[in-house]
Formats: sequence, C-alpha cells, structure tokens
Amino acid sequence: MSSEALHVAREKLSRKTLEMHYAITSLMEEFEAVDWYRQRAEDTEDPELKKILLHNAREELEHAAMVLEWMRRNDAEVHEQLSEYLFKDGSIAGHEEEATGK
Ligand SMILES: [Fe+2]
Repeated sequence: MSSEALHVAREKLSRKTLEMHYAITSLMEEFEAVDWYRQRAEDTEDPELKKILLHNAREELEHAAMVLEWMRRNDAEVHEQLSEYLFKDGSIAGHEEEATGK
C-alpha cells in the first residue's frame, strides 16, 4: 500500500513515523469528509438526503475521534498537547500564553 503524501523515501522512515503518517492522513481525510458531507447536506433540497448526509458526517466525525485517540495513545507529544488544550474553558489563545509564558 502506498501513500501519495510521503515527502521522504519510504525506506528512510521508521515504522513509527509511517504509522503516524497513516493516522495523520486518515485524520485529514475524515475531517475532509465531515466538511464535504456537511456542505452537501446544507445545499441539498431533499430532506431525506439531508438526514443521510448529516448522519454520514457524524460517522466521519466518530472515525476522526477514534484516529485522534489512537494518535494520543501512541505519540507522547500529541498526548501532551491534547492534554494541555482539550476540554478546557476560557480563552484558547490566552491558555497558550499561560502554558508557554509567551
Ligand atoms: Fe470515515
């Protein structure tokens, strides 16, 4: 199986980098699908098709969440950043200033 998005010769990459590449690419594709389904759902004039497309968008979001969780479990830096920023109240940019002191 190949990936168009590799920027370095495959044989030069570690297994871990390749696995993370697959996850990142999949995450991008899942969110792209969410966006596409939502756009089509918003544009269709058929109510039943709208329901199906919104259902499909939610399923893609579920897939994205599963991949993101895999990334969190398998990459310490992803874990660190998600722990720092997700499910927090208040200003997101302000939180960065607090966390980094910048
Ligand atoms: Fe999906």
